[in-house]
Amino acid sequence: MTNEILRVGTFFSGIGSPEKALERLKNEKVISDYKVEFFSEIDKDAIKSYCAIHGVSEKLNLGDITKLKGKDLPYCDLWIGGFPCQDISCAGKMRGFTFESETRSSLGWEMIRLLKEVKEKPKYVIFENVASITSKKFKDTLDLFKLDLTNMGYTLYDNVLNAVNFEIPQTRRRYFLIAILGKHEKFSFPVGYPTNIKFKDFLDKSVDEKYYYTDNTFQKDGNKYVLKNKKRKDINYVIDIEKLLNGGVCGIDTHSKFHQSQRLFSENGYAPTITASNTADNAKVVVESEVC
Ligand SMILES: C[S@@+](CC[C@H](N)C(=O)[O-])C[C@H]1O[C@@H](n2cnc3c(N)ncnc32)[C@H](O)[C@@H]1O
Repeated sequence: MTNEILRVGTFFSGIGSPEKALERLKNEKVISDYKVEFFSEIDKDAIKSYCAIHGVSEKLNLGDITKLKGKDLPYCDLWIGGFPCQDISCAGKMRGFTFESETRSSLGWEMIRLLKEVKEKPKYVIFENVASITSKKFKDTLDLFKLDLTNMGYTLYDNVLNAVNFEIPQTRRRYFLIAILGKHEKFSFPVGYPTNIKFKDFLDKSVDEKYYYTDNTFQKDGNKYVLKNKKRKDINYVIDIEKLLNGGVCGIDTHSKFHQSQRLFSENGYAPTITASNTADNAKVVVESEVC
C-alpha cells in the first residue's frame, strides 16, 4: 500500500458499485485512499442514487459520455467502465458492441476514443461486461477493442469471474478486462473462495404479500408440492421437496414459455443471474417457509 490518493473516474457509473469496492479496499487498508474526480451517467434515478450512496454532489457527474472531450477530463490514475450490456447479453438480441452497431453496447468504444484524446492516459483502466462478450460472435470486435488498447501501450489481463465465488449467492458471470500502462507487477485475477452463504441470507425477513406469486396453500403430490398463482389459477408451480431443501433448481413454473424462466430456485442455494428486465418472466425463488 502506498500513501498516494488514487484518483478515479468512472463511466456508465450507474449507482457506483466499483466506488463501493474502492471504499471497502480503503476500509480494509488495501489502498490508503481514493478520490472520485468525476463520474458519467445519464439516468436521472441512477444519478440521484449514486450521489446519495456516495455522499457526493451531482456536479461530479459529467453526463453523456458521447458528449465528453478528452481534453476536458481531469487526470485520473484509474478509469472504470461497465458499459451497457443489453446488446451483448444472451438475455438480449446480441446485436451490439461493434462500433457501427450504434447500440448502447457500442458505447464502450467511447472510452477508447477518450483514452486516445486525453493528454495523460490513466495508469489503470477496468472494463466490465457480460461473459458473452467472449463468445465467438463478439470475438473479432473484442480483439479490435484490445488491439486499440495494446497500441496505446497498455498491457492487458482479462478473465470471466463468477459472483458465486465471491460470497454472493447469485450465479453472475462477468468479463473483466484490466489494462495497465507502463511498468508494473504482473497482475493475476483472484480465484475466489468457498462460501456457505445462501440466497436466503440476503432476503428480508418481513416481505409484503404483494411480492409473492402464491399464497401459502399447496397440495402435496408424492414428493412434490403444487402451488397455484394467486391471481392466475391456470399457473402452477411444481416444487420438488428434496431439491427445495438442498438448494438449486427445485421446480418449474408450468406456464412459462421460456426454459430460463420456467425454473424455480430454492432459497437454500444460489439465485440465477438476476436481470434488469423486471418482467414476470424473471427468475423465481421458492421460500421454504411459504410451503413447508
Ligand atoms: C451496465 S450499467 C453500469 C452499472 C454500474 N457499473 C453500477 O455499478 O451501477 C450501464 C450504465 O450506463 C449508463 N449509460 C447509458 N448510456 C450512457 C451514456 N451515453 N453516457 C453515460 N452513461 C450511460 C446507463 O444509464 C447505465 O446506468
